[in-house]
Amino acid sequence: MSKLLSRRDRQEEIRKGLEGMIKEIEGEDLRVVTFMEYTEPSPPVKPKIIKFSNVLPLLRRLAEMGRVEKGVAKVMFYSPSTGRSRGLTPTMMAGFQYLAPGARTEPHSHNMASIYIVVKGEGSSIIGGEVFSWSEGDVFVVPANIEHSHMNEGQEEAILFDVTDSGLLENMGILEFRQEMSEVKK
Ligand SMILES: [Fe+2]
Repeated sequence: MSKLLSRRDRQEEIRKGLEGMIKEIEGEDLRVVTFMEYTEPSPPVKPKIIKFSNVLPLLRRLAEMGRVEKGVAKVMFYSPSTGRSRGLTPTMMAGFQYLAPGARTEPHSHNMASIYIVVKGEGSSIIGGEVFSWSEGDVFVVPANIEHSHMNEGQEEAILFDVTDSGLLENMGILEFRQEMSEVKK
């Protein structure tokens, strides 16, 4: 038999009278804990459904506002139990990307990998210098650390849905994004 221990922070109580000694050890990015605080598992992620009909108006509005990139919007989802924006599950993040006709995302890369499905419209993605044309229902893969950008070459809005392993990388503290400066090879 065992009992799961719940976390209780006793640092203030235990540190009383020891501050001077402890401050000798601590630095800008270093703290001392004076006993092992038990960690607790995160609450489980709950099953859920995200209604596209509710997401679409938000995507359109964000693209119109163009605060990040003109004609482009991205809406991602996370479960608060995984930590702020860490994933829809502890390992995976998912989201919709919107591209107005003629819109194109800035070339960039990241160490998460992504699998995309085309929900609506048509266009192409340049992935590692290679052009991949897509239309509704197609699936394409952007491996980790490869420069990519997406563009809508159709007359109508284009919408992609992607799942990435960014939750895993962010939870490990190693998720990174890079803006690419190189010219895109056609
Ligand atoms: Fe990306």
